[in-house]
Amino acid sequence: MTIIVTGGAGFIGSNFIFYMLKQHPDDRIVCLDSLTYAGNLSTLAPVMDNPRFRFVKLDICDRPGVYQLFEEEHPDVIVNFAAESHVDRSIDNPEIFLQTNIIGTSVLMDACRKYGIQRYHQVSTDEVYGDLPLDRPDLFFHEDTPIHTSSPYSTSKASADLLVMAYHRTYGLPVTISRCSNNYGPYQFPEKLIPLMIANALSDKPLPVYGEGLNVRDWLYVEDHCKAIDLILQKGTVGEVYNIGGHNEMKNIDIVKLICEYLGKPESLITHVTDRKGHDMRYAIDPTKIHNELGWLPETMFKDGIRLTIQWYLDNKDWWENIVNGEYRNYYEKMYGNR
Ligand code: NAD
Ligand code: TYD
Repeated sequence: MTIIVTGGAGFIGSNFIFYMLKQHPDDRIVCLDSLTYAGNLSTLAPVMDNPRFRFVKLDICDRPGVYQLFEEEHPDVIVNFAAESHVDRSIDNPEIFLQTNIIGTSVLMDACRKYGIQRYHQVSTDEVYGDLPLDRPDLFFHEDTPIHTSSPYSTSKASADLLVMAYHRTYGLPVTISRCSNNYGPYQFPEKLIPLMIANALSDKPLPVYGEGLNVRDWLYVEDHCKAIDLILQKGTVGEVYNIGGHNEMKNIDIVKLICEYLGKPESLITHVTDRKGHDMRYAIDPTKIHNELGWLPETMFKDGIRLTIQWYLDNKDWWENIVNGEYRNYYEKMYGNR
């Protein structure tokens, strides 16, 4: 089987490629990635020489380029991770989010229609459901929870989901969608909460917590997300949405304190900064469907996953120091300079 993985030079896509090459020795993976600021070719160095792997630098919005790749590769499956993925950047400038996350998705699905495909899988997010109140711990996102987005990022992802379902109903495209909670693990770009706090703490820099830090996210170790997508590809029902989450809700402030504790850094580094605009309060997934129908359960407990993650950032300083010492400096100054 040939699988095109878009966005495979990013955080979850790269972890998915490593996982699939290991788990499926007969499959070939073609990674399609335009290498935006979030894509890093060095991440894929361990598989670059693997004869079952090919990297193609291409924008998912480039229709002729995508069609040509389908003609060359005759893929059986597409897994679309490629996206602009950071909420704060979407608040600063929504346009590229609409372009990549919506138009790019439609180009990929048009290619699937034109050349035929066994499965198109859309990697989506729990953020399409909006947020839950902090004082209702009994509420969770189910697959039929209405879409109710907050940020330009989540709105662009929700739009893509609607388009994916429209291609299924209108053209019979064999699609599946997964909506996962917040991931953490190796190779996450340091603009996101956990790697940002690890990188800053290791450099004894302030740890910028938005508002009071009481917002709740449901954290899942990235490999558990990869396993869930693999299961959906193998056993999932076409036309269905699957929520993925590990019932691991934590307040931002508690995560940051835990990182300080593990790294032996003082909590006095924590600095409360101006809150994010439209900041979602709580995300919480009910994963009953994927558990009951496909037998998926998360395998890495947060206490183990966070240690593995922190250790990975300690062992791979070159990877993230290269990033934080580059263009990222300008981003950091713009986002946090006067906050
Ligand atoms: P990321 O920002 O780390 O990586 C995105 C990758 O997509 C990068 O390699 C980038 O170069 C590539 N890309 C961006 N625009 C492209 C384009 N136009 N054409 C080709 N490639 C392009 O993102 P991530 O955190 O790995 O997230 C991957 C997917 O998972 C996204 O669709 C995101 O919405 C979804 N998701 C992420 C999380 C999370 O916690 N990170 C949770 C749920 C869902
Ligand atoms: P993030 O990693 O950006 O993921 P998302 O917004 O998609 O959930 O942020 C996770 C939480 O951490 C979110 O509530 C915002 C908060 N946060 C901070 O408090 N400080 C930061 O510097 C960042 C990047 C995030």
